[in-house]
Formats: sequence, structure tokens, C-alpha cells
Amino acid sequence: MAFSIRTRLTFWYVTLLTVSLMAFGSAFSYSLFRIFTDRMDNQISSVANMMVHTVIRPSGELFLPRDFDLILGRFFGIRTEGNYIQVLDPAGGVIAQSSTLEEHTLPISDETYRLALSGETSYANVSGAFRYPVRVVTKPIVFKEKGLVAIVQVGSSLEGLDDIFHSLAYIFLLGIAASVVIASVMGWFLARQALKPVRELAGLARKISAENLNERLNIAVPNDELGALASTINEMIGRLEASFKQIRQFTGDASHELKTPLTILKGEMEMAIRSRDDVEYMREVIASSLEEIDRMSYIVRNLLDLARMDAGGGAVSMDRVSLDHLLSERFEHFRKFALDSRVDMVIIKNMAVMVTGDGLRLGQLLYNLIDNAIKYTPGGGRVELSVEPDGAFARVTVRDTGIGISKEDLPYIFDRFYRVDKARSSGREVGGAGLGLSICKEIVDAHKGTIEAASEPGKGTAFTVRLPV
Ligand SMILES: Nc1ncnc2c1ncn2[C@@H]1O[C@H](COP(=O)(O)OP(=O)(O)OP(=O)(O)O)[C@@H](O)[C@H]1O
Ligand SMILES: [Mg+2]
Repeated sequence: MAFSIRTRLTFWYVTLLTVSLMAFGSAFSYSLFRIFTDRMDNQISSVANMMVHTVIRPSGELFLPRDFDLILGRFFGIRTEGNYIQVLDPAGGVIAQSSTLEEHTLPISDETYRLALSGETSYANVSGAFRYPVRVVTKPIVFKEKGLVAIVQVGSSLEGLDDIFHSLAYIFLLGIAASVVIASVMGWFLARQALKPVRELAGLARKISAENLNERLNIAVPNDELGALASTINEMIGRLEASFKQIRQFTGDASHELKTPLTILKGEMEMAIRSRDDVEYMREVIASSLEEIDRMSYIVRNLLDLARMDAGGGAVSMDRVSLDHLLSERFEHFRKFALDSRVDMVIIKNMAVMVTGDGLRLGQLLYNLIDNAIKYTPGGGRVELSVEPDGAFARVTVRDTGIGISKEDLPYIFDRFYRVDKARSSGREVGGAGLGLSICKEIVDAHKGTIEAASEPGKGTAFTVRLPV
């Protein structure tokens, strides 16, 4: 069964309090008891000492008057009231008693008797004979040649002590019970107070959904653990908001990108249907429609690629890929495109480097970069390609002398659907959808590499990719 934090806090608090109060009570009672018995032992022991001097004569004879306590009191100043005095013979038989004992006898245990026989004084609590336990000292009288002559026992009732301890226990139990009740109520209340911000936090957090991600938890005490929790949650909501926004933007852009060619396609088809027999015109329309369809399938293919990479969570197949071969291959592929665009494309360095990864994807990476470099470089410009090792990395550079990218645009070029000059590049012949570089970024990330762009508007751009070898 799961208890609330509040219940658990209160429970632990009260348990701890009860245990410490009980420990304190026990320690206190024990010390008090020790002090009392020590004092009583001192007292009965001094009476016993006096007794020993009284009952033995220098000759070694015992002196045991009949009115035992009367004489003791009168001649030796030994007060017998409150004290029980008893003298035993070496065999343990009673030979004299104070009148305070009346018809009772202080019992002597085997252990005590054994100690007395061996000449040792001992103390014990004796119960059973009287209503209250009696503290008894048992002292043997040993005389030079004769050995054990008698055993003196002096006892004192523990009645007072018993009373004190009873009241003490009563007070303690009552006190502990009262403290526990008060502590439970206070603890319950305090725990509620302490956990109030948590409840507030939970309430606020519950209200936040995809629709109001712009809201934040504002919590009154910002500088404690809960404040830290609140700001952590806020940061998390911030990240969620950003990615939700990204997804919305992405969906919007994707639909827009697909809608444009569709609209064009529809317009052209409608025109064609109206121009009945003009075969030449029909031909033109169909050719241009095919272009739009190509463009659409290009976008859809790229979107699918992105979606697949997103779903794969960055996992790529692990083949040995020779980057220099890959570059030569791409170079051949683009040779005609570069020639047509009057761009001088050269490989300035092509050193043998192997990386582990997905050959197809890495080919796509080079494709997109070279494609951009040629596309965004006017006739007469130059595109330089290179592959070389760079420490634990393989470095691929695609440098052009094209139009460049302004500082304001540079941070965004890897975003999906981002194009620097929408009006310009939406022209048919360039026709970018703004997906190429975002795909490059995904591929590089999946290979645990980095991609950087450096550019100067009007002078050219350089893309540098580093992949771990
Ligand atoms: N080498 C470059 N020189 C100048 N600008 C570039 C270069 N490479 C990319 N850009 C700019 O960055 C934008 C994003 O590039 P990206 O490759 O993602 O999209 P795209 O080329 O427009 O379309 P796609 O690659 O999907 O066909 C481009 O629109 C372009 O403005
Ligand atoms: Mg591109």
C-alpha cells in the first residue's frame, strides 16, 4: 500500500519523537534508580557496619540482647525504624531480629549465602516477604581464628522508591502520549504546509498541454529545491514548446511545398484541356507537368528520408566506407552539371580515408553539398572538393566561389525548408526545397560527426564535414 509523502513524513516524525522520548525517559529513570539505590546501599551498609561492631565482643563472643533494637537504639544510636535487622548463624539460621521485622524473616538466597560464606558482602533486592521489595545488605562477620561467626543483614524498604517510580512512569507515559498526539497533529499540519508548493506545482503542471505550452509554472519560492524543480520543468516545457513549434512549422512548410507544384500542375492541365487540338502546346504542358511531378517526388523522397532518419533515432548501418572513392564517384556524377553551369569543379585533395557508416547516406551527403555548391555558384566560378584525414577524423571540404550566405542566414541553413532567398531560389531552374542541408545535418549527426559552414556573401562558401574514422 502506498502512503502519501505527507503521511510518511508525519509517521516518521512521530515515530522518531516517540522513540527519543522513550529513550530519554528510560535513561532518566535508570539514572535516578541508580542514584537512589547507591544512596540506600550506603545507608544500609553503614548500619550494617555499626551492627558488626556491636554484636561481636573483642573476645569473639556474640552479644545479642533480647530487646535487640531498643538496646541498639539506646546505647549505640542505631535507628531501627525503617530498617530491618537480622543476624544469622553460620548455618543460616536466624539468631536475632529487630522488632521491625515482626513475624517476618528476610529470606537469604543461595547465592548471597555462598558469598557470605566466602567472606564477601553483597547487596540484593529481596521481594516476597513484604508488600514492597526490600534492599538488603548481607555482611559476614569473620573473626580471626574462629572464621565465620555470624551473618548480619540490614534491609530497607523500597516503598518510597517504588512510589516515586510508579508516579514517574505515569508522568512519563502521560507526557509521551500527549507529546505524540500534539506532534502528530502539528506534524500533519506542517507536512501539509511544506508540501503545499508541490501540490501547487502539480496543479499548474496538470493544466499545461500541447495547446498552452507557452505557459510556465510560476512558483512563489524560487530559491529552494522546489524552485529548482519548477525551473527544470519550465525548461522542459520550453524544449517541448520549441519542438512542437518545429513540428508545426515543418508540417506547414511541407504542405506548402507540395501545394505549390500541385497548383501549378492543376493550372497547366486546365489550360491544356481548353486548348483542344494544339498538340505542340499539349506536349509543352505535359513536359512542364512532368517537371512539377519530378519536383514533388523529389520533395516527398527527401521528406521520407528525413522521416526515416527521425524514426531510426540516428542509427546507421556500419559498413567500411572509403570516402575518397565516394568523392571521385560524386565528382564524375556532377561533371556534366558543372560543365553546363560553366563552373570549374576540381578535386584538390583526395587522400585515402575509411570511415564506418552508411555508404548510401554518405553519398547523399556529398551529393547535397556538391549540388548546392554548383547551384549557388554563378558561371565562371569554381568549386573545390577535398578529402583528407584530420586526427581522429576524416575531413571533407566543399568550397565554392559562389554567392555566399549572409551572417543572418547562416545559423538557419540547416533547418528544414530554410532557403535564404525564397523568391530567388523558388525559380524553376534552381528549385530547392530547403531540405538538402537538413538531411546533411541528420546524416552527419547519425555518424557522430560535425558539419560547419563558413561563408562570405559574394565571395563564396565552404562546408566542412568531420567524420570519426
Ligand atoms: N554553397 C552555397 N552557397 C550559397 N548558399 C547556399 C549554399 N548551400 C546552401 N545555401 C543556402 O542554404 C539554403 C539551404 O540549402 P539546402 O540545400 O538545405 O536547400 P536547397 O538547396 O534550397 O534545396 P534542396 O537541397 O532541398 O534541393 C539554400 O536555399 C541556399 O540559400
Ligand atoms: Mg540543396
